[in-house]
Amino acid sequence: MIPLSRVTVTPEMTAAILEVVASGRFILGPETKAFENEFAAYIGTRHAVAVSQGTSAIQLSLIALGVRPGDEVLVPSMTAFPTIEGILHAGGKPVMTDVDRYGAIDPADAASRVTDKTVGILPVHLYGGAADMTALRALAERHRLWIVEDCCQAHGARFREKTVGSVGRSGCFSFYPSKNLTVLGDGGMVTTNDDEVARTVRLLRDHGRSDKYTHVAVGFNLRFNEIQAAVGRRQLALLETFIEKRRAVARHYDTALAGIEGLRTPLERPGTRMVYHLYPIRLKDQATRDALRDHLTRAGVETGVHYPIPNHLQPAMEPFGTPPSLPESEALAQTSLSLPIFPSLTEEEVETVIGGVQLFFENE
Ligand SMILES: Cc1ncc(COP(=O)(O)O)c(C=O)c1O
Repeated sequence: MIPLSRVTVTPEMTAAILEVVASGRFILGPETKAFENEFAAYIGTRHAVAVSQGTSAIQLSLIALGVRPGDEVLVPSMTAFPTIEGILHAGGKPVMTDVDRYGAIDPADAASRVTDKTVGILPVHLYGGAADMTALRALAERHRLWIVEDCCQAHGARFREKTVGSVGRSGCFSFYPSKNLTVLGDGGMVTTNDDEVARTVRLLRDHGRSDKYTHVAVGFNLRFNEIQAAVGRRQLALLETFIEKRRAVARHYDTALAGIEGLRTPLERPGTRMVYHLYPIRLKDQATRDALRDHLTRAGVETGVHYPIPNHLQPAMEPFGTPPSLPESEALAQTSLSLPIFPSLTEEEVETVIGGVQLFFENE
């Protein structure tokens, strides 16, 4: 079976893990500090604070920005459910918006949902493609809102000359094993140029302590581990190579699938660098998507749907009232199909995937 994603593990990563084991220091130590510094330098922010996962990066960012109960946060419905959880765990109210043709928050739809309770915008750089930050910044300035970027799928993606995670007040990253940069376990990072946000996130991730036995705030245990940091540093050193490989696979798929009627390859927003965390194609309807998915499974190709249930329709959201109608998000849920993409995908595997898709359409 060709998997949807596959982790790259090098001998340097394994050796680094063993060095941490020998060091006897396991949580928030020198490897974490070095990973934070290297990550901040890569993203182009003054600070990077390592936390337990992407979800806690969002939660702690919003708490640091002073979100209070009832505060509304504009967020696209089409994202991983943890984006929504991060807002809720910080005490905010997610106000779900529709997405544009790139799968990112639609600035016009977001603008129509601004109320006097709106405090911020949480764009998601979905699939590894950057959201329309120019339009979102204009919206934020008009209503004096903050922007927190969900970069969990977009390590190294660029919007114009900036790397995502350096555009808003903070950027939130996940290092879960399927991500473009993984720490071979759970992990996350908050990037920011705001000294106060960095200080608060740093404090809250570790029980609000200012030193070993002094707690100046009621915080959490959302810390980061040394073994994960050691792996993360070696993954970060390879990230540009990983991105080049993902982009090469995407170009290969783009070219081979371009002529197929009833299939649309993913769009890269002009002026951005997409890092292809996923390669979601669009089909004409749900029946075709599901049939292609079954066909590819039989051909030994794993696929994914990101995401089959948009968050405004999730059962967990029922207590929050009648869901809005978000047609583009609902269409995306029904018609998108993610093909395998990862740095170690071989030419032969890419050809197998392409051949499987082509055969399906020949027999349509
Ligand atoms: C867009 C997005 N936001 C948030 C998250 C949450 O990250 P984590 O699983 O590290 O908590 C993920 C990954 O699951 C994600 O893809």
